[in-house]
Amino acid sequence: MTSINAVTDLSNENEIAVVTLNSPPVNALSATVRDGLAAGVKQAIADPSVKAVVLICEGKTFIAGADIGEFGKPMTGTSLLDVEAVIENSPKPVIAAIHGTALGGGLEVALCAHYRVAVPSAKCGLPEVNIGLLPGAGGTQRLPRIVGPEAALDMVTSGKHVAARKCLETGLIDELAPEGGLRAAAIAFAKRIVAENRPLKKLRENNAKVDAARGHPEIFANFRKENARRFRGFLAPEYNIRCIEAAVNQPFDEGLKTERKLFMELMTGPQSAAQRYVFFAERQVWKLPDVPGDTPEIPVKKVGVIGAGTMGGGIAMNFLNAGIPVTIVEMESQALDRGLSVIRRNYENTAKKGRMAMADVETRMALLTGSLTLEDLADCDMVIEAVFERMDIKKDVFTRLDAIVKQGAILASNTSYLNIDEIAAMTKRPEFVLGMHFFSPANVMRLLEVVRGDKTTKPVIATVMKTAKRIGKIAALVGVCPGFVGNRMLSQRQREAQKLVLEGAMPWDVDRVLYDFGFPMGPFAMSDLAGLDIGWVKEKSSSSTIREVLCEMDRRGQKTGAGFYDYDANRKASPSPVTEKIIHEFRAKSGITPRKIGDEEILERCIYPMINEGAKILEEGKAIRAGDIDIVWINGYGWPVYRGGPMFYGDLIGLDKVLARMKQWQSGMGGDFKPSALLEKLVAEGKKFRDLK
Ligand code: 3HC
Ligand code: NAI
Repeated sequence: MTSINAVTDLSNENEIAVVTLNSPPVNALSATVRDGLAAGVKQAIADPSVKAVVLICEGKTFIAGADIGEFGKPMTGTSLLDVEAVIENSPKPVIAAIHGTALGGGLEVALCAHYRVAVPSAKCGLPEVNIGLLPGAGGTQRLPRIVGPEAALDMVTSGKHVAARKCLETGLIDELAPEGGLRAAAIAFAKRIVAENRPLKKLRENNAKVDAARGHPEIFANFRKENARRFRGFLAPEYNIRCIEAAVNQPFDEGLKTERKLFMELMTGPQSAAQRYVFFAERQVWKLPDVPGDTPEIPVKKVGVIGAGTMGGGIAMNFLNAGIPVTIVEMESQALDRGLSVIRRNYENTAKKGRMAMADVETRMALLTGSLTLEDLADCDMVIEAVFERMDIKKDVFTRLDAIVKQGAILASNTSYLNIDEIAAMTKRPEFVLGMHFFSPANVMRLLEVVRGDKTTKPVIATVMKTAKRIGKIAALVGVCPGFVGNRMLSQRQREAQKLVLEGAMPWDVDRVLYDFGFPMGPFAMSDLAGLDIGWVKEKSSSSTIREVLCEMDRRGQKTGAGFYDYDANRKASPSPVTEKIIHEFRAKSGITPRKIGDEEILERCIYPMINEGAKILEEGKAIRAGDIDIVWINGYGWPVYRGGPMFYGDLIGLDKVLARMKQWQSGMGGDFKPSALLEKLVAEGKKFRDLK
């Protein structure tokens, strides 16, 4: 065995050279890996006793891509394209041996090998689109030459990880190796190649599939049309499509040039910068400075949920999906039956769409027990309360729970706004109490705000974070304050949206600006969807806001066929003349002379106060990092990922600009716009949120 460099070894096993990479955690193509790989393969080629070369990786995976941490920094070492040229032009066959994931640049390297073998659990994919990029090392040109343009379009625009068996069908890999026996199988495969004198298969020369698609522009037109909604706002999917088009319409080397040009455009643009930032923020959010990774955890084998309403049902589904038994408690049998049947119907609908097996519906339902008594939660390891949003009811539930549920179990509330410490104080074990704030629909939305109370202990936090991962959520640890992180910032946007309508904008103007910014819908469309009557009490209603007037007219949102918007039978919204009249009258009654409000002001008024509130949240220590706030907004509220979250966006547009506007509005319109001390400090020091450590 020869050591080529710190991460590369070369050995010769009976005329088969084995180049082994070992660069944890994922063998990303850092400069050292690229250097070692090129040198290792070159040395193998130069050795006259070597007949073929196997490329394999140590650790949990084959190469998982370029080293994203190197992007945006000056290039050092051998370029990836040069590494690939060494492999592809090798006069001796090179075989890539794949386990774990061959992703991005990793798969591109494998596509330059002449053959690929993989274990059944391996996966291949080009996930660059998820970080706002396209495969920039020939992937867009070689992939369609092996799997065909249609399959390639799907892979590059979805970033999907494709299972080895499927790859075998499409020809992406040549042979499956037994699990655990990859090295031996790859060497045996290499010997066969040599013995049978098989050709050096170069994908660049494999033109049949791209030739067949030439002259069929409808392949691309249809694909664009079918996916327009999914791709809205994103640059990278479109650029990926253009590269596959180039593979079909241009000779290989021209196609490579197109790929390079478009890759560089994306790499230097703001969307990819934002998406790369989110990639790391999504991983950092799990790291808690004062709760180390080895903090002891409480085993969670059985979960209780209280309330089988909108949230309780969805929360239960998360655990059932992960194979964890759930007991769900309601007050009355009617509500319980309704809750249980909604869960069943959700599963059945998923199965009907082919997204899960019918048999799995029963497996999951079998894990669910309905009950009308809290006593049935006695032996649960974790209980999540999702009853009405009223402090008196929550306090009552927690007092009773404390007496019933075994010691050492975690008691959580799904409250949206209420004070967790007040709830915890009703128990004799406040150290086991915290908030687990799910988002609606709770079985779909990825975000979980984990709300740390004053007394919550570290093992409880560690357990809940781990459990969040088990049920497929992304969890952000936040502190106690009204609305926590997400809803607290949302309140800023809602308040300004409503004020803008009083001052002269129409709800659909505000919604259009935020939709164009990249949100799935604007605040008024969102209110119509959620129901305008949340928290509205008919008897107390006094026409004091536009929302109240709408509710009084039974325009309570989509469910009543009208709210801010009018809805047709297909729930398609259109601006409502009725709402418009109400708004005109309301302004007149309030003595407001409407003014014309531009799109820029709408956007700034909705977004800047959120950024300012985010700064206050950081200043008060209610979120650990600016990145955590961005994770909350991207995963809980549909903030467009290509804009990196509100805090990233603040950094991008300039905190000085945000501060100047807040001050200007404060002097004209008062206290709602009081700048955060942290924002002032950062601007004074010429720093950004990302400089905070
Ligand atoms: N570059 C740098 N670091 C990477 C990385 C990469 N490509 N992929 C993963 N890492 C790091 C993570 O940041 C994390 O670091 P940390 O422990 O310090 O937080 C560590 O590796 C482990 O990653 P995960 O926590 O995500 O581990 P999982 O086991 O859950 O997932 C994975 C492994 C499926 C490989 C996942 O990490 C992943 O999807 N990685 C990104 C793959 C990717 O996007 N590749 C394409 C890169 S772009 C490219 O190749 C351009 C080319 O076309 C020129
Ligand atoms: P919901 O009204 O749909 O469901 C509440 C359920 O709790 C009802 O079925 C009710 O019968 C039951 N319930 C009330 N008191 C009970 C008790 N003492 N014992 C057993 N069951 C009882 O309400 P929803 O929307 O599910 O909200 C529940 C909680 O989740 C609230 O705290 C809310 O603020 C929070 N939340 C709601 C979100 C939403 O979008 N709806 C989002 C995030 C949190």
